[in-house]
Amino acid sequence: MALYRRGIGGSGEAVYRYTSSMEDDREIAANVVRVLRAHVEHLCELGLAEDCGPLLEVLNEVPLDELAAYRSEDIHEALEKYLMDRLGRAAGWVGLGRSRNDHVAAAIRLTLMDRLDELATRVLELRRTLLRLAERYADCVVPTYTHGQPAQVGTLGHYMLALDEALEDHMEVMGAARRVVDRSPLGSAAASGTTVPLDRHRLASLAGFSDVVVNTLYATGSRAFANLACGVVVGMLVELSRFVEDLITWSSPQVGFVEPPIEHVATSSIMPHKRNPVTLEVLRARIAESLGHYVALLAIQRSLRSGYSLDLQEATRHIWAIMRIAADGVDVLADFLSGAVYRCDRMSEEAARYPITSSDAAEMLSMGGRVPYREAYFRVAEEVGRGTAVLPRPGEALRMRRVLGSPNPEEVRRMALEKLSKLDK
Ligand code: ARG
Repeated sequence: MALYRRGIGGSGEAVYRYTSSMEDDREIAANVVRVLRAHVEHLCELGLAEDCGPLLEVLNEVPLDELAAYRSEDIHEALEKYLMDRLGRAAGWVGLGRSRNDHVAAAIRLTLMDRLDELATRVLELRRTLLRLAERYADCVVPTYTHGQPAQVGTLGHYMLALDEALEDHMEVMGAARRVVDRSPLGSAAASGTTVPLDRHRLASLAGFSDVVVNTLYATGSRAFANLACGVVVGMLVELSRFVEDLITWSSPQVGFVEPPIEHVATSSIMPHKRNPVTLEVLRARIAESLGHYVALLAIQRSLRSGYSLDLQEATRHIWAIMRIAADGVDVLADFLSGAVYRCDRMSEEAARYPITSSDAAEMLSMGGRVPYREAYFRVAEEVGRGTAVLPRPGEALRMRRVLGSPNPEEVRRMALEKLSKLDK
């Protein structure tokens, strides 16, 4: 039986079935309870509620499964009904000075903070894997590609450092987004605050926030905090996806740079020779799906007036979908990378097939012979065309690449170790 709709004449099956968020609310249920407990604690310390003892006692051990089974508009209503079932009239105090709008925003923020923290731990693990591989494969020669064509000489270690730096950048911005998420909307009520003399900073700290969202309309009616966080997470996944694409290509027998860990491989029901890199294929698809979730998250909001509308309820599930795709994806990639076999023999064979040290040759000519680079470039181009060019060997070219961030093996090893020790601090 509906609680709030009782006032307008009862509950309709169609409305319940179509609009209830009970299913999605499983994600935030624990934090909805936590937020209400903070509110009640605050009302009690201000002397504004009665029956504080029993109220807090019941709020301290709400059985979430039982709550999830309530037929309700949402978890907030279910919780209030549960309190009424347990305590009767005394439960009525919890409604003073609050709205579902400030409470749901608070619960989403707290849950998102947890998800961001879990993701950060996983990304850290992926970065450790990458940095260890960077050190181990600092000398492993591999072509770099531009336009999908062999470009210059690189190393596998250098390649791993590229992904690591991308992750590092995204983590930095994710940290900034998390600080925005870590602000409490509590005490904002539905849109414009309340006459109840709540101390919003106190409420924030009782609920586990570091700070408050100041404006009550923004606090209750906006999901910009989630857009910021999901934007950087999806951005990171897009960057990751490009490496996944490489790894899938490198795992094919024609290329043969990488042998996927056997647990990451599936075969065919008809062709027994197949070794398909299925975890990476699913990851590639899920990352595409995360873009869909992100577009949905933003699209739902773009046409809303300021202030809460129930559309926002429909946006929330996309946040969790994105965070789940990210957490699972980062884990699966770390596991793939740490268990794969890297065939440096195949990589250097491939590197040797192409004149990928032509730029090094032209630079040597230019600097050594004091020839303008364009002249040196055309000389080397002609020799490469005729097949008479004497190009530096990859190892030699790498030794000469002293520039910061290059695949020079010593540089890669130094970087990898330096970054690893920074991570462990
Ligand atoms: N279930 C809603 C959500 O997830 C909670 C807020 C509902 N507020 C309202 N006034 N109907 O956003």
